Amino acid sequence: MTEVQIEDEDFASLRNQAVVITGGSSGIGLATVKLLLDNGALVAVGDVNEPPLQHPNLIFQKTNIASWGELSALFKSAKSNYGRVDHVFANAGISGRTTYLEENFDANGELLEPDDLVNQINLKGCANTCALAIHYMRRQETGGSIVVTASASSFQRFRLVDYTMAKHGVLGLIRGLQPLLHPQLPIRINGISPSWTATGLAPKEFIEMVIPTQTPAVVARSVALLMADEMRHGQLIYSVQGKFSEIEESVLLPAAKTIVGDISEDLVLTKVQAAAANLGLTKN
Ligand SMILES: NC(=O)c1ccc[n+]([C@@H]2O[C@H](COP(=O)([O-])OP(=O)(O)OC[C@H]3O[C@@H](n4cnc5c(N)ncnc54)[C@H](O)[C@@H]3O)[C@@H](O)[C@H]2O)c1
Repeated sequence: MTEVQIEDEDFASLRNQAVVITGGSSGIGLATVKLLLDNGALVAVGDVNEPPLQHPNLIFQKTNIASWGELSALFKSAKSNYGRVDHVFANAGISGRTTYLEENFDANGELLEPDDLVNQINLKGCANTCALAIHYMRRQETGGSIVVTASASSFQRFRLVDYTMAKHGVLGLIRGLQPLLHPQLPIRINGISPSWTATGLAPKEFIEMVIPTQTPAVVARSVALLMADEMRHGQLIYSVQGKFSEIEESVLLPAAKTIVGDISEDLVLTKVQAAAANLGLTKN
């Protein structure tokens, strides 16, 4: 694991940068909003609830990220207020709602479809936020960067089943987009995977009966570092009790390489796509 040290000076380049944050009205999102404002950034928050603070460099657009129309309006609002979108923090999320073991029945005794809300918010909403971020950033000479909120449950067994599925999907989103963005497009994508953090989603009074939590302000520092450090692309910063490590490039991908060896599925796919294009079998 590569330990990561984060210093206040690391955030200097975020001054005057325009940042869109989903789920910025509580917990990790709100702490990131405060850190960015303290460092001179211009922030647009999209959340179902209003943030509990006001600031001349903060705008709020009521947004349910499960709605494409509302997400689009958030980005339009950021662009019209700030003229650009330099960084996006796709962070909004909710806790698990179904394990797929529950059995609910309709009036005829037929098993009802399981609740899909966690997938719609934590995965589809996150992916759609990335799509909008890319749409705006690819049209800017200076590009931009995206940080997504994965989780320590992105790479472990965890019995909140829908939540774990979605957070594995968020790591998949980073892994899928990484080869398509920088350097072909001037856009970086990275993620955070916090362990237990005292927020609305993980209330301190319950969690601390078992394990010490970290504050959302700690996690916010990993978000700001990933935005500010132009060398980081495709990384995942794990944070636990105030300590940070980069785990994707240092642990998770090397573990996958021990399985696949020299066969890179992405390299094979790239060659197959190129060969098909040479034969005129695809539009590219
Ligand atoms: N707290 C933890 O221990 C922990 C650990 C790993 C990952 N996370 C992730 O961190 C992210 C932030 O959660 P948090 O812990 O700060 O919880 P939180 O409940 O304090 O904050 C979540 C924010 O997202 C907003 N939100 C929820 N649904 C939304 C929607 N449909 N559209 C727009 N906004 C919506 C909420 O209003 C709230 O402001 C989530 O993605 C969560 O899964 C949290």
